Amino acid sequence: LLFQNTRFSTSAPDIRHMPADDGIEIAFAGRSNAGKSSALNALTRQKRLAKTSSTPGRTQLINVFNVIDDVRLIDLPGYGFAKVPIAVRNKWQRALGEYLQKRQCLKGLVVLMDIRHPLKDLDQQMVGWAVDSGLQVLVTLTKADKLSQSERSKMLKKVREACLFYGDQVEVITFSSLRKFGLEQLEETVNR
Ligand code: GTP
Ligand code: MG
Repeated sequence: LLFQNTRFSTSAPDIRHMPADDGIEIAFAGRSNAGKSSALNALTRQKRLAKTSSTPGRTQLINVFNVIDDVRLIDLPGYGFAKVPIAVRNKWQRALGEYLQKRQCLKGLVVLMDIRHPLKDLDQQMVGWAVDSGLQVLVTLTKADKLSQSERSKMLKKVREACLFYGDQVEVITFSSLRKFGLEQLEETVNR
């Protein structure tokens, strides 16, 4: 797949406003501020395709991007951000839950976690849920540029060990949108 040609399609408040449920979707999930939108931009080699922000909670809608006809990348709203008003949070967590449960064309989930604090409760729930639903999961440890090489490999090893529990549906990589570490592995996995 040529990710460079990816184009914005639509922003949907819930699945009823999304394109028809056919083809293939790969979604990017993770805590607010984990680096989902930045990873999507790195993958598609476009600086401003998905909106990024240093303020957590930037992505509040389900953002749909067309790679080619019938192949889409989905930038999901982040979870676990306390400072969003409860009403807003409930609404978007509901849309997220519904997307994950009902979307037939969803084939793979990239679950992004800040390498400095991975596998929080909600991350584990997300991975566990995805595995139970039969999805392929790529745990992507983001902002790897924030750690030294040795700290990075230590963390990768630790998270890989924790994920053995899930079996071979889950893979773990380190990644940096800033330095482009792990981009080839992300690309390869999404391509499968
Ligand atoms: P929400 O949409 O709010 O859930 O956030 P998000 O997960 O989409 O995160 P986003 O991509 O907007 O990035 C959040 C912040 O982290 C921004 O300030 C980014 O510049 C920064 N960031 C993202 N990826 C990296 C990375 O690989 N390295 C470093 N150093 N910073 C990063
Ligand atoms: Mg975002």
